[in-house]
Amino acid sequence: MRISVIGCGYLGAVHAACMAKLGHEVVGVDVDERRIAELQEGRAPFFEPGLAELLEEVLVSGRLKFSSNPSDIKGAQVHFLCVGTPQRKGEYAADLRHLDAAFSGLLDSVEPGNVIVGKSTVPVGTAARLAERLQERHPDAVLAWNPEFLREGFAVKDTLHPDRFVYGVPSGDAGAGAAAMLDGVYAAALAEGTQRFITDYATAELVKTAANSFLATKISFINAMAEVCDAAGADVTLLADAIGADERIGRKFLNAGIGFGGGCLPKDIRAFMARAGELGADQALTFLREVDDINVRRRIRVVELTRTLVGGSLLGKRITVLGAAFKPDSDDVRDSPALSIAAQLQLQGADVTVTDPQALSNARGRFPELTFEPDLDAALEKADALLLLTEWDEYRELSPTAAGAVVRHRNILDGRNVLDAAQWRSAGWNYQGIGRP
Ligand code: UDX
Repeated sequence: MRISVIGCGYLGAVHAACMAKLGHEVVGVDVDERRIAELQEGRAPFFEPGLAELLEEVLVSGRLKFSSNPSDIKGAQVHFLCVGTPQRKGEYAADLRHLDAAFSGLLDSVEPGNVIVGKSTVPVGTAARLAERLQERHPDAVLAWNPEFLREGFAVKDTLHPDRFVYGVPSGDAGAGAAAMLDGVYAAALAEGTQRFITDYATAELVKTAANSFLATKISFINAMAEVCDAAGADVTLLADAIGADERIGRKFLNAGIGFGGGCLPKDIRAFMARAGELGADQALTFLREVDDINVRRRIRVVELTRTLVGGSLLGKRITVLGAAFKPDSDDVRDSPALSIAAQLQLQGADVTVTDPQALSNARGRFPELTFEPDLDAALEKADALLLLTEWDEYRELSPTAAGAVVRHRNILDGRNVLDAAQWRSAGWNYQGIGRP
C-alpha cells in the first residue's frame, strides 16, 4: 500500500520505517528539515535499539522516503498522523497545535478514498472534531483513530508485533472501509493472531489514556507501598514479587523506585484529568492527582535519602548520577526523574556529575548547569555517593570492587532496586535501596 506518515519523531520515524519493512511504499514528512535530512541519510535522529539498522535496510529497498515538503504525501492511500501532543505550558491540558497544523496541511493533499489515521495521543473528542473538518472538505475520505501503544526502547518490536490494534472508526460503510484499509496495512501482524478491537472514536481515544493511566497508577501504587515499607522496615521488592505472583495483579510494572517519567505517562495523566474536568467528569479522575503526587514525592525522597547517605549535608559533596534518560535503552530525557533529581541536588549545593551511555547531549540541552561525563570510570572518580537512577545494563553490572577502588566514599543509592544489596554491602558499601531495609 502507499502510505504517508506525518511527523517523524519517536513515534512517526519508527512507524514509517516499520511500515516500509512490511512491504508498503512509505513517505515520512516532518517540518524539521534537519531531522528529515538525517533520516534520509539513514541516520536515526534519536537512540532507539534496532532503528538505525532498520532505516538502512528499508532506505536501500527504495520503499521509504523522507521529505520536508508536506505536499509529498500526495498519492498515498493512508495517511498516519504521528505528531506530538505535549503538555501545554502552565496547564495540564494537551497542546494540540502541532496536530491541528499537521491536519490543516494534510487537508490540501487528501484525495477521494483516502483514510486518515490518527495515532497521536489526544483528549477524547478530538477525532470527532477532526472528522467534521475532514467531511467539510473531503466527504469521500474517512478518519480513523488508531492509538499507538509502543514503548520506547522496544519501539520497533512493538510496532511490528503489537499486542493489540484499536481502530476507532465511524459507523456504517465508511467505517467498515477504513477498517478494511487498516487490516491491509497491518496484514502481517493480524496473520500472527494479533487482537483487534473496532470501536467508536471516543472509545479508541480513551483506550490509550486509560491504559497509560493504569500503568501510572500501578507504578505509583508500588511506590506508595515503598513509602510504607520504609516506615515499617519491610522490603518492597519482596512484597512486589509476592503480590505479583497473583495472576490478577501481575508482577510487571511493579518496580518501585524513583517513579515514572518520559514523554507520555506524566503528561497523559494530566491531560486526562484536564479533559475529564471539561466533560464534567473530574471526580472520576481525582485519584490521578494522587498518582501524580506520589510520583513527584519519589524525587523529593531520593534527594533526602542522598543527603542522609552523605552524612547530613549536600554542600560540596561530589555526587555521581548514573543515568539521565527516563528509562534505559532510550536517549529521551523528557520529564526524566533522574535529571530532575540531579538538578535538585545541584541546586542544594552538591557537585553533581551525570553520566549516561546515550542521553547526555539531550540532557545537556535541558540542564546546562550540571556536569556531564560520558566516560563511566571518569564519572565515578572521587565520588562521595553514586546514585543509580536509570537502570542501563552497564550500571546493573557495575562491579562493587572496581567502583569501590575509585570513589572517595562507598555510598550508593539504588534508585531502581536493581543491584544485589548483599554483594555491595559485603564489598564495603553503604547500600541504600528504595523501600528496602
Ligand atoms: C509508555 C507506555 O508503556 C506505552 O504503552 C505508551 O505507548 C507510551 O507510554 P514509555 O513512555 O516508553 O511507554 O515507557 P514505560 O516503559 O511505560 O515506562 C514509563 C516510566 O515508568 C519510565 O520512567 C520507567 O522507568 C517507569 N517505570 C516503569 C517504573 O518506575 N516502574 C515500573 O515498574 C515500570
